[in-house]
Amino acid sequence: MIVYLNGQYIPRQRASIDVDDRGFLFADGVYEVIHSYEGHLFQMDAHLQRLEHGLRSLRIAVGDVQAVGEVSERLIAENGLTSGEATVYIQITRGSAPRTHRFPPAGTPPTVYAATQEVIPQRDQAEEGIAVILVPDPRWARCDIKSVALLPNVLARQRAIEAGAADAIFVRDGVALEGTSSNFFGVFNGQVVTAPKTNYILSGITREVVIELCAKIGVSVHETPILEHQLGEAEELFLTSTILEIRPIVRVNGQPVGTGVPGSMTRRIQQAFRDLVSDLSGG
Ligand SMILES: Cc1ncc(COP(=O)(O)O)c(C=O)c1O
Repeated sequence: MIVYLNGQYIPRQRASIDVDDRGFLFADGVYEVIHSYEGHLFQMDAHLQRLEHGLRSLRIAVGDVQAVGEVSERLIAENGLTSGEATVYIQITRGSAPRTHRFPPAGTPPTVYAATQEVIPQRDQAEEGIAVILVPDPRWARCDIKSVALLPNVLARQRAIEAGAADAIFVRDGVALEGTSSNFFGVFNGQVVTAPKTNYILSGITREVVIELCAKIGVSVHETPILEHQLGEAEELFLTSTILEIRPIVRVNGQPVGTGVPGSMTRRIQQAFRDLVSDLSGG
């Protein structure tokens, strides 16, 4: 496995990060995950734009964010992942400097790391759907930044697993916002609903693709809050993310969603997504 670290392509075993790296000490950095289908990096421009948004918000100066796209493509090729599915993980931190809360001296280079991983698609979960639990959202008010500070997400995911579910949905002020690493959609009265883009959710690339696909297949989407107390009336629920794509939810806190099996709207959107991916990747 070849990874990229600060300008070099090196074997994974040789990659090491300084213990003074601010990513390690303060979770002072951002990340991205891009899905590669047959060597085609899906929605790469949108991922790089979001990365730029995060870096700008955190005031981490990276000369050429676009170059990260070339790094991603080269890693897919170097690791023999141009067929099948894989992900590229990119992490950029404020760099390495003796520990103090204030920013390091000007000119301290950011740490730029990227690695690939083969994806084994979880067809059973995509077909049968998953169970989720609802958890209170303890996160900060800048969830729009794809920060590496993921402790609330880690704790919520673990709580879900220990409750026999696959994921947790964060609920803030009575609004069901998003999953621990995914956006959250519902179908009410035949119409698709998802939380609006605010500072309380991550603006998912897959969320955006799904909204566009719905327009294409003639389904209305409302970007309005999904209230926790309305969840019992949902005909369908699903999650979206780069890794999960479109994942039906069939149980919430042990209660069946709709008929308790993935619904026809979710199926249509899954199919439209697969068609799009296969068109783009020439499959
Ligand atoms: C909290 C959160 N929301 C939503 C998403 C989905 O974003 P995307 O579709 O860009 O993968 C993620 C992805 O990791 C996430 O961590």
